[in-house]
Amino acid sequence: MDDGIAAVLDTVATTAPEIRDGLSGRRSYGDTENPSGERQLAADEYADGMLETRLLALDSVASYASEERESVIASDAGGDYHIACDPLDGSSNLKSNNTMGTIVGVYDEPLPAGGRSLVASAFVLFGPITTMVTAHEDTVTEYVIEDGDRRVVTEDLTIPDDPVVYGFGGRVPDWPDEFADYAADIEQELKLRYGGAMIGDVNQVLTYGGVFAYPALESAPDGKLRLLFEGNPIAYIVETAGGRSSDGSRSLLDVPAEEIHQRVPVHLGNAALVDRLEAAL
Ligand code: F6P
Repeated sequence: MDDGIAAVLDTVATTAPEIRDGLSGRRSYGDTENPSGERQLAADEYADGMLETRLLALDSVASYASEERESVIASDAGGDYHIACDPLDGSSNLKSNNTMGTIVGVYDEPLPAGGRSLVASAFVLFGPITTMVTAHEDTVTEYVIEDGDRRVVTEDLTIPDDPVVYGFGGRVPDWPDEFADYAADIEQELKLRYGGAMIGDVNQVLTYGGVFAYPALESAPDGKLRLLFEGNPIAYIVETAGGRSSDGSRSLLDVPAEEIHQRVPVHLGNAALVDRLEAAL
């Protein structure tokens, strides 16, 4: 692996336990909103600040963008890679003490950039244990982060062939009819698993097989999730693991990136289930 990419992934792994340790005292909302208009928790700003400082300190990192700040921060020193980070995906789960975590996309083009410019991506999941899933050079690897170490637990992770679970976001009356019809079929076949943090729900799909969606809504045709920070990095992992991603008609990795905080409908999982979704929409 290129040393610059390895340094980014190592930094995310070594910062994760410190982020986790800092969560318990930062469960309350402040007075600020992120650029997408969502209220920020003290924990969002804490994780963002820590990742910004550590990642921008690396020689290989040219810039840092995050869901929690308006614009891209450039490194004074230059570097080859551009980081798009969701410091705490699903952070509203902190209040109810449910799963959430960190997502990082490593792009080799200045941001905003499309998903084909990703060279690696990763997520850290703060569940009963802390795990990290990385995708790079056609391989997805799952690690456990414990006692200051990152230990491989699944080499060459692939989505199981026989799907078991599904999780769909948004209120049912707000779903377009075509998506509601698709969901009605899927409900007859798979078990519902929806936890309100995309990476937790996607990790269930990676573990058991299935499909996750935060679709286009009648009230929000671009859905809720952000392309650069959430859609692309997770699509890169799911596609590398043998699955598919879609905005409804094409891979998320092919969606043109026009602005840093742009939203996109997200559908991910076993290829056959995403093919069916595209046929239904
Ligand atoms: O983008 C933040 C996020 O928390 C995702 O991780 C998650 O999939 C989604 O929002 C949950 O939204 P809702 O509260 O509408 O189910």
